[in-house]
Amino acid sequence: MRNYKPRARLHIDEIISCLSAVVSTLQENPEQALKNLRKIGKAIDDQVPYRDGHNLRVTDYCLMIAQELGFDENEKVVLEVAAILHDFGKIGIDENILLQPRKLTSEEKEQVGLHVMRGYYILAGFNELIEALKGIKSHHECYDGTGYPEGLSREEIPLIGRIIAVADAYDAMTSDRPYHKALTKSEAIAELKKQSGYQFDPTIVRLFIKCIKKKIEK
Ligand SMILES: [Fe+2]
Ligand SMILES: [Fe+2]
Repeated sequence: MRNYKPRARLHIDEIISCLSAVVSTLQENPEQALKNLRKIGKAIDDQVPYRDGHNLRVTDYCLMIAQELGFDENEKVVLEVAAILHDFGKIGIDENILLQPRKLTSEEKEQVGLHVMRGYYILAGFNELIEALKGIKSHHECYDGTGYPEGLSREEIPLIGRIIAVADAYDAMTSDRPYHKALTKSEAIAELKKQSGYQFDPTIVRLFIKCIKKKIEK
C-alpha cells in the first residue's frame, strides 16, 4: 500500500485563487488554460487521499471517450475541465474516512458522498464553469436512477457526467485503495460490463472498453 504521508500542500484558498485566475483565461486561450488547470488538478490531488494522480488519469480516460463520441473542441474543453475538477469537493472531507480499510458505514458513505455538492457549491461562483459544473454534479448519478445527489436516470444525466462516471470507476478499480487491491484491467472491464445499463450508460461503457483495449494492445 502507498505511503499516505501528507506533503507540503496548498491551502484551499490558494487553490481557489489560482483557479479563478486560470478559468478567466479559458475563453481566450483554452490550450494554455487547460495546461494550468492540470497543474491545479495536481494540487487538488495532493489535498485528497490517495494522492496518486487520480484526477488526471480520469481526465485522460474521459478525453479518449470524447474522441470516440466526436466531441468538438469546445465540448472537449468543458469535459476536460469537469474531469480535472470532478472530486474538488473531497478537499476537506475527513481523511480518516477516506482512508478506512474496511467497508464504510452508511453515515461515512454519506459524508463521502457530500463531496459532490461541496464541489458544486464551491465552484458555482465561477461563471466560466457553468457547463463543467453539470458534470461535476452528476458524476455519481447512476444510469438506472439509483445514484446521487439527484437520482437522475438515463439521458437526464448530463452526458459529461455519464462519461466521468465510467472513467472514474475504471480508475478507482484499477488503483490500490485502502479498502481493495487494484483489479487487473480485464477484471475492471468485466465489472464495467456487469454494471452496463445499471450504474453506467451502456454506450459509454462500450466506447470506453474499445479505447482501453486499443491502449492495452499498443
Ligand atoms: Fe467523486
Ligand atoms: Fe473520482
